[in-house]
Parts: sequence; C-alpha cells; structure tokens
Amino acid sequence: MKILLLGSGGREHALAWKMAQSTYCEQLFIAPGNAGTAQYGQNLDIAVSDFEKIKSFCVENAISLVVPGSEEPLVKGIYDYFQQDAALQHIPVMGPSALGAQLEGSKAFAKQFMQRHNIPTAAYREFSEENYEEGVAYLRSHTLPIVLKADGLAAGKGVVILNDREEAVVEFSQMIKDAKFGDASKTVVVEQFLTGIELSVFVLTDGHSYKILPTAKDYKRIGEGDTGLNTGGMGAVSPVPFADQAFMALVEDRVIRPTVSGLEKENIVYNGFIFFGLINVNGEPFVIEYNCRMGDPETEVVIPRLQNDLLELFKAVQEGQLSSQTIYEDARVATTVMLVAKGYPEAYEKGKVISNIPAPTQDQLVFQAGTKAAGGEILTNGGRVLTVTSLATDLGIALTHSRQTAEIIDFEGKYYRRDIGYEFV
Ligand code: AMP
Ligand code: GLY
Repeated sequence: MKILLLGSGGREHALAWKMAQSTYCEQLFIAPGNAGTAQYGQNLDIAVSDFEKIKSFCVENAISLVVPGSEEPLVKGIYDYFQQDAALQHIPVMGPSALGAQLEGSKAFAKQFMQRHNIPTAAYREFSEENYEEGVAYLRSHTLPIVLKADGLAAGKGVVILNDREEAVVEFSQMIKDAKFGDASKTVVVEQFLTGIELSVFVLTDGHSYKILPTAKDYKRIGEGDTGLNTGGMGAVSPVPFADQAFMALVEDRVIRPTVSGLEKENIVYNGFIFFGLINVNGEPFVIEYNCRMGDPETEVVIPRLQNDLLELFKAVQEGQLSSQTIYEDARVATTVMLVAKGYPEAYEKGKVISNIPAPTQDQLVFQAGTKAAGGEILTNGGRVLTVTSLATDLGIALTHSRQTAEIIDFEGKYYRRDIGYEFV
C-alpha cells in the first residue's frame, strides 16, 4: 500500500512508526508531518484540510490509503470528499463520514445520539439564541458546578466548568451572544457535573463489528497534581488499572455496542476509530465525549502496546472483515511523558535546538510532536514538543524510565510533569 497519513503530532509519529513496520507498507507519506515522521516516510508541505492539494497528490502518486490522524479533516468531510470524486472514490479513507464525525464535531449531535440509543451520559439541555432567556433561568436554578460546552470544535477550549451561577450566565452570554468560540458556541450544551475518574477507550470499527484497543488515561492539566490550564495532554498511561474485566464488560454492553449498532441503524457510515472519553462514576461508565480519531498522547501508549499489524487491521476495516481479526496486546504497561515548550499552553517559543534524543529501544520510544528538521538539527516547532514512551512490567518502572529520559533530552525552556500516573503508583 502507498499510504498518506495526515497530521503532525506525536500521534502521527506513533502511527507512522507502526505502519512502517507493516509488510503491507510500500511507501508512506505524511502531510505535513514533523522531524519524527520523516524517519519513516516522506513529509509533504500540505495542510491536513487542503483537500484540493491532497487530491492532486493522491492521484499523481497512486495513493492506496488515506489515514487522517486528527479530527479536522474528518469533521470537514474528507471521507465524503473522496467518495464523491470519481478520481478518488477508489481510495479508502480510514475514518468516518462527515455525519459520523459529528459525534465529535457537535456536542449536541453526540448528546442526542446518546439519548436515542440509551447510552449513559450526563443529563443536559441545549440552548441557542432562540431559547436564550430560558437558558439563563435554567442556569440560575442549576446545581453547582455547572458544565458549559460549546457545541462545535473549539480547539479543546470549549468546555467551561463553573462554581458560580452568575459566572455561568456571563460565560453563557459570551458563548452565545458574543460568539466567544465563533459559530462553535452558537449552540451551548449545559450538562450535569459528574464526579469520578476519567479514562479513554478506543475501538476500531468497520461500521458493523468493532475491536477494542488497549485502554489509556491521559493527563490534561499543565501542572502537577492536575492543576492549572488545560492542554492537549501532558502524558498518558496504558492500560488503566481500574478498567478491569468487569468494568470493561459494562463499557462494552452499555457504551460501545449501542454506539456501533446505533451508527449502523441510522446508516451513518463509520470506518475508523471511535474514542470514548469516559468517566467512572462509582463503577458505572458514563460518556463525557466522543472523538472520531485516536487521542494524543494516548496513541503514544496504545499503539506501542498493540501487537497487531495496523495496516492489516485497516485493510480488514475497508473490506468489512474486522470481525475476523483478533487484537493482541503487549502484557507490559506503557507510559508517556510529554515535554513542552516554555509558556505552553499559552504563547510559547519555537526554534530551540533539541539535543540528546535517544535512539529507540525495545522498551523506549521518543515520539516527536512540535519539531522540525533544519540545518542538520532538530528544532522545537510547537507547544507539545515530544513525548517519551516507556514499556515495562510495572507502571512505576516505566514511569521512572520515562522521567529519566525526559530529564536527559534537552532544549531551552523544557517543561514536563513528573507526576504522570500518580494515582496508580
Ligand atoms: P472535553 O473537551 O469534552 O474533553 O471536556 C474537557 C474536560 O471537561 C473533560 O476531560 C472532563 O474533565 C471535563 N468534563 C466535561 N464534561 C464533564 C461533566 N459532565 N462532568 C464533569 N467533568 C466534565
Ligand atoms: N488526549 C485527548 C485528545 O486527544 O483529545
């Protein structure tokens, strides 16, 4: 297969690393990629949502599979774009249709879908300009804390949790009246606050059957002890210790199966990953969010633990034969610790020289995110710079190993959390 992978994060480095190991991988291109992905294929100067350039490249280079890493091209409809173009129809896109991607692209769509299929999630109401005053009254009588969610994609910033009703009214007004998140906050979901511990569950589906991948937990806050601003993710562990067989049986019965069969019943085309952002409330799983792609940095612990040939799984998805596959997981645990640029997740510097990146071993891999190669050096080129994944028989050992390497890798302004996985050791 000649593959085009879309994206430039640690997730895409991990996917490129994995796909390059497959016997099916003839050639790999990454648009736009980073200094890490360039080790496994050719980076292209094409943005993930520049569908016209993607089309020309695919046609001219006889691409046989497109793998979108992030939600952006999926929510913008890359699947449908390929389906509707005679020159592209024969090229499978590993991901949902635009309608399927609405599970991530619209919180209101996702909530309505969960209601229709009886999937456990927080109670909610949906508001927009039309029922704005009703929304204000609703907030003034709501229990605290109040969860406000912009309906559309808001670069991970669209969820606000407030402990004061009047502050909630102000935020609500900014979202709807002042378009705080542009069109994304024209509709706002107001949700019941759930208390519990979160985890990420991933499945791969061909729209009919599904396979559950290793579980993971990510750490979203910038500061140790889960404090400070939200980030894209500062680290992750896999598997999640409390996601035992009994809990995962509930997840499968109440969440995964009804989601996949709900998509099928509603004729929503979905060939790809579903990311279930779950919360464990006293042993019961609830869905916090759906994403239509793998997580980042969860991929950097999930993919190294997946022993299958990833392209064989993708091929099975495209052929509607996923049910014939068995997932094999490495019995070792994986941890990843993200190194970020000074200032992240607010304004940060770029262009710092990175040194001491160790070569991959059987039990450690460095996945690059915001990096670029220039003049024989690797420079920082993003907020999340790179992540150190370690595999070991024991979580504590893996974490120590990730931290040791995080200490050795160097660039000006480097920061990382030393407490990833703290609840489990
Ligand atoms: P999201 O952008 O949907 O991932 O939400 C960001 C974070 O907000 C989640 O990871 C949760 O920590 C938190 N969150 C979202 N919805 C709820 C809820 N209903 N109850 C408690 N926390 C929530
Ligand atoms: N790590 C969370 C996400 O990828 O959305």
